[in-house]
Amino acid sequence: MKFFVDTADTADIRELAATGLLDGVTTNPSLIHKSGRAFLEVVEEICGIVDGPVSAEVVALDHDTMMKEAEILRKIADNVAVKVPLTIDGLKTCKKLTDDGTMVNVTLCFSANQALLAAKAGATFISPFVGRHDDVGLDGMGLISDIRLIYDNYDFATEILVASVRHPIHVLESAKIGADVMTAPPAVIRQLFKHPLTDKGIEGFLADWAKSGQTIG
Ligand code: G3P
Repeated sequence: MKFFVDTADTADIRELAATGLLDGVTTNPSLIHKSGRAFLEVVEEICGIVDGPVSAEVVALDHDTMMKEAEILRKIADNVAVKVPLTIDGLKTCKKLTDDGTMVNVTLCFSANQALLAAKAGATFISPFVGRHDDVGLDGMGLISDIRLIYDNYDFATEILVASVRHPIHVLESAKIGADVMTAPPAVIRQLFKHPLTDKGIEGFLADWAKSGQTIG
């Protein structure tokens, strides 16, 4: 499973990229606002930090203006994935861009039928929002299972990118279902490394090692 980080904070991206475990980055207009930085400039910097896909979202709602914005975004770097909303105009834009060889991430997906449409439009990634789905009392992970089943039934190449991940259980369930990618905030990715028994074990081993009086090398 690929790991993307959902942030426009370049300090966090650099730190996670240094682990060698980061496969890409997703941003959205809210994350760009949170960064306090100019959109095109921050996307360009992120594209220089990671080799994998970097999602940058259009903000227009009509196809023609989406295409104009996408033109600007895809020129930033080869690893830009243009992010479009799951609307008729968004999918029309997706079809046109992917036919042309540009990666597209279709975002704000909340139903398996929407995911089916995105796959038919040739989306590179579909982003179902599990956290926001859970927030309204629905089953976010059930949505991922349904999309996995449908994509496998028809051999769609569109990658399932689990978005709006809020905690490590979302990551675990995504991996069990066989999602292709998950994108999570930096804090959730850091949580994945942690286990209290790992910390306790290190503490015990180091205490005994100190008592042994030995060194390595
Ligand atoms: O980038 C899209 C998605 O991951 C947003 O997550 O936490 O704002 O629902 P969240």
